[in-house]
Amino acid sequence: MKLTSQITLLLALASLGTVQAEVQVNRAMLGMFQPLPESAENPANPSNPAKIKLGRMLYYDTRLSKDRSVSCNTCHDLASYGDDGAATSTGIGQQKGGRSAPTSYNAALHIAQFWDGRAADVEAQAIGPVLNPIEMGMPDEAYVLNVLKSIPDYVSLFKEAFPGEENPLTYKNVGNAIGAFERGLLTPAPWDAFLKGDDKALTDSQKEGLNLFISKGCVTCHQGAGVGGHMFQKLGLVKPWPTEDKGLGGLEGKEAMTGFFKVPSLRNITETGPYLHDGSIKSLDEMVKKMAEHQQGHILTDEETAKIIDFLKSLKGEIPTDYVAKPELPADGPDTPKP
Ligand code: HEC
Ligand code: HEC
Repeated sequence: MKLTSQITLLLALASLGTVQAEVQVNRAMLGMFQPLPESAENPANPSNPAKIKLGRMLYYDTRLSKDRSVSCNTCHDLASYGDDGAATSTGIGQQKGGRSAPTSYNAALHIAQFWDGRAADVEAQAIGPVLNPIEMGMPDEAYVLNVLKSIPDYVSLFKEAFPGEENPLTYKNVGNAIGAFERGLLTPAPWDAFLKGDDKALTDSQKEGLNLFISKGCVTCHQGAGVGGHMFQKLGLVKPWPTEDKGLGGLEGKEAMTGFFKVPSLRNITETGPYLHDGSIKSLDEMVKKMAEHQQGHILTDEETAKIIDFLKSLKGEIPTDYVAKPELPADGPDTPKP
């Protein structure tokens, strides 16, 4: 054998030796998670194409705010993963609220809505911001209905969306239409392909991150189809977390739940900072380390943190661009109130 071919052979053998064994994930441990469902239907608000179309329009319509400056999309921008990128959101008249806007993507899967779970579902949630004085600031339900009834196309769209209802244009149906639209805001991710059996959908580093996510106990709270969104837990479970916000404890009769918040879904988490109910944590690196320390009593190394974040990247899904495209909105009627 010639020297050059001997060297080639040696190099080939050496490179074989450095090929790393593939990272193994114990699939038996994955039972705590579920892939994103195909749909998030609500039997109490059966969906139909007309209802979704109407809900999409209302989601984008700034006429649901007092000065016609704010829509749902202002704070939950569907082109930016359903978020506004701000610590706390700005409503009408540049007013600031005290909490950070969670994403509207995949929210329909959650056990309840808001950081404190005070609305049961997306239908009940959607009618809150419209009357909230610092969000959309409409004076009352009757005023909202007046505006909608003054827009001729909305009158017919409500009829089509709620067939057989004698009086389809009700405040509750505003929530039902927006809710039906929001139930389609799902973002399947590489993570879902992995859960369904495609081992190649995650990189080795992401698999190591997943193993850490499980072994460090993140999964005890962030689990299910949303990788979060399915339970309430105390912020600062093992090491106190200083916050003025009482969370669930601020709700009537729930004083004992002071410091508890809904465990947020981690889907698209790389895209929806700043973090926590008050947007007080800017970087995901800091957030992951603080979670490990305050919720589980673990101090993570930089390397472990980077791997967990790598895993979290596999939860970044695809925005359904056609579904969320901003529709043309119906024109004002002659009597539509102007601010
Ligand atoms: C001015 C900004 C603003 C506007 C406008 C706004 N939201 Fe929100 N939204 C927020 C904030 C802030 C929260 C969290 C409040 C809390 O938990 O107390 C929230 C919470 C939510 C949630 C709960 C998500 C979860 O994971 O719990 C959904 C869904 C939602 N909004 C949808 C909507 C819809 C639909 C509209 C339009 C009808 C709307 N929002 C208008 C700022 C806004
Ligand atoms: C005991 C339950 C619990 C455990 C364990 C836990 N978390 Fe959390 N996590 C929460 C709660 C509750 C919040 C929301 C707190 C708030 O906003 O006030 C949260 C928030 C987060 C956020 C910010 C989400 C957002 O939308 O702002 C990230 C990221 C996060 N957790 C990652 C992790 C990671 C990674 C681990 C493991 C190292 C972990 N969590 C362990 C309960 C938990």
